[in-house]
Amino acid sequence: MTKPKVFIACDTTSSKKIERIIKESQNLKFNIGYKFGLEFLNSKNGRKFVSRLKNKITFGDYKLADIPNTCASAIKAVKDLRFNYITIHISSGLKALKAAKKVSGSTKLIGVTILTSLDNKSLKEIGFDKNVKKLVLNQARLAAKAKLDAVVCSPLEIKIVKRVFKKEIITPGIRLSGEKRGDQKRVMTPKQAFKNGATSIVIGRSLTEGNLSKNIQKLIKELK
Ligand code: C5P
Repeated sequence: MTKPKVFIACDTTSSKKIERIIKESQNLKFNIGYKFGLEFLNSKNGRKFVSRLKNKITFGDYKLADIPNTCASAIKAVKDLRFNYITIHISSGLKALKAAKKVSGSTKLIGVTILTSLDNKSLKEIGFDKNVKKLVLNQARLAAKAKLDAVVCSPLEIKIVKRVFKKEIITPGIRLSGEKRGDQKRVMTPKQAFKNGATSIVIGRSLTEGNLSKNIQKLIKELK
C-alpha cells in the first residue's frame, strides 16, 4: 500500500456526500485516503458503505479508549471492513495498546495522543499536571514500546514525537491559510505540517464545508 499524503475526514452521516468527496478527490496527483469517524461509522448506512468500498485507502477512526479485552475485541469485530488504518487512544494504556496490536494484523494501528482540540488549560481542567508537549512525548514513547504503526498528533508536536517514534506521523488540526481554528486549538497549515515532518495530514471541514472542488484546488495550490 502506498502511503496517502492526505486523509480526508468524511465527517457526515450522508453516504451521498461521501460519494461526492470520493469522486472529486480520487484523481489527484497525490495519494488520498478516506477517514471515517464516529459520526459516519455510527450512522445507519455507514458500516455497509465502508464494506462496499474497493481500492481505496481507508482509515477507521474509532478512537478506541477502553480496557485491553474490549479494545482487542472491537478490532476483531471490524476485521471484515479491512481498514488500512484504525485508531486507539494511547491513554488506554500500554496493555491495551499491546492487546490491540496483537490482533490488528495487516491493519495499521495508530495511537492517538492528546486531542488537537485540547490545550494546556483543558488538560489542567481534566486533572493532568503535565503540559501538552510532555504528555505527547510520553505517549509517543508508549506507542513505540507497543510497536504501533503510526501516531496521530498535532502538527505542533511532530518534532517531539519524531525523537522517540520512528514510523508514520499523521496530523489532524490542519487549516488552510487564513482559516479560523474553530473547535481545534493546536493547528497549522498543510504546508507547515509537512515541513515539520508529517507523513500524512488529516483534513476535514477545510475541504468539506462550502465548495468542495474549490477547496481541493486551494489545498493543491498550498501544497505546491
Ligand atoms: O474538520 P477538521 O479538519 O478539524 O477534522 C479533523 C478530523 O480529525 C476529525 O475527524 C477529528 O475527529 C479528527 N481528529 C482530530 N484530532 C485528533 C484526532 C483525530 O481532529 N487528535
